[in-house]
Amino acid sequence: MTPTEVAEGIYSVGSTDWNVRDFHGYSTYQGTTYNAYLIMDERITLIDTVKKEYADDLLGNIGQIVDPKKIDLVISNHTEMDHSGGLARVMHKIGEDKPLYCSKAGAKSLGRHFSQKWNYRPVEDGEELKIGKRTLTFIETRMLHWPDSMFTYCKQEKILFSSDAFGQHYAGPERFDDQVGEAIMPHAKKYFANILLLYSPLILKLAQRLTEMGLEIDTICPDHGVIWRKDPMKIVNAYVDWAQQKPKRKVLVVYDTMWHSTEMMAEAIVDSLLQEGVDAIPMHLRKWHRSDIITEVLDAGGILIGSPTLNNGLFPTVGDFLTYLKGLRPQHKVGAAFGSYGWSGEAVKLIEKEMEAMRFNIVGPALKIPYVPDREGIESCKELAKKIAAALPAE
Ligand code: FEO
Repeated sequence: MTPTEVAEGIYSVGSTDWNVRDFHGYSTYQGTTYNAYLIMDERITLIDTVKKEYADDLLGNIGQIVDPKKIDLVISNHTEMDHSGGLARVMHKIGEDKPLYCSKAGAKSLGRHFSQKWNYRPVEDGEELKIGKRTLTFIETRMLHWPDSMFTYCKQEKILFSSDAFGQHYAGPERFDDQVGEAIMPHAKKYFANILLLYSPLILKLAQRLTEMGLEIDTICPDHGVIWRKDPMKIVNAYVDWAQQKPKRKVLVVYDTMWHSTEMMAEAIVDSLLQEGVDAIPMHLRKWHRSDIITEVLDAGGILIGSPTLNNGLFPTVGDFLTYLKGLRPQHKVGAAFGSYGWSGEAVKLIEKEMEAMRFNIVGPALKIPYVPDREGIESCKELAKKIAAALPAE
């Protein structure tokens, strides 16, 4: 990525990772970017770095604007290694004694990651730092999405450097939202669903706080994907909407199958839901990536999960999905479990137990069918679908 001027004297100097396709379990079909920002002022400031492997790329980009040795201070908004991995290389290059501003939790976690005695300057929430004609304000955003996370706000240009928040895993030639248009929103939605869903209550509080602070925002510079300059409040408002997790009359029928019997059940349930006027989507777990299913979970009112019983337990992909789903703590879901079995049939009960732990409104009884569903079995699938449709909220 070549440096891009975001505002006069403020540059995006990060890197594009065109080829990453698996970001710790999240499918990044279109790669991602690791954004870092350089502010040319009396004290030259670098905000965040990049993944370790891209540190030379970052330094090369900075070098097109200024000798990296002239950087006066670094701000680390977030410790996760896709943003701090390049820090060791950067600090070595610019001088290990240069001040490194971060949250208090950031100082602890960077210390543990790097075991380096850098010149940490832990900041308070709301603390200001004058770097010349500009003043930067640090805004603590604890658990969005790590304990160390914070934003940095530049009041002169009204730019919010938002760390992971408002990002997208998207690598393209474009650098700004208006260059991509509406097509960027599905990427932003998938990112929210897979990374921030479990922090929905905190996101609603943060949005409220930004409003109360009267923060004027002309531009949002996230650490992944494109910069929001056309209508930055569009993504803020989308976050508020997604965080509310308003359930629609939409049901996901997520399943795996060994010899098509659980699949026959899933298909009968989907057909019946469609007849009831519900947007039903069958999602075979070896055809859909877990992170794409989670995007659909955001506004689904119901989730049915089906598994055959394998070795007295869940089918492996179903276990994987339940683990991932549970960690993201979806809210306001109606749920039901189903599956075919040969002789023991524990899987359905195991799914229901996980749904209880996630506080789903469970529609029962769970549906277990031995071997291949017969006509009566298919009818019971249709009955379950009708009960699910009745339990969904009206729109
Ligand atoms: Fe993009 Fe939490 O790292």
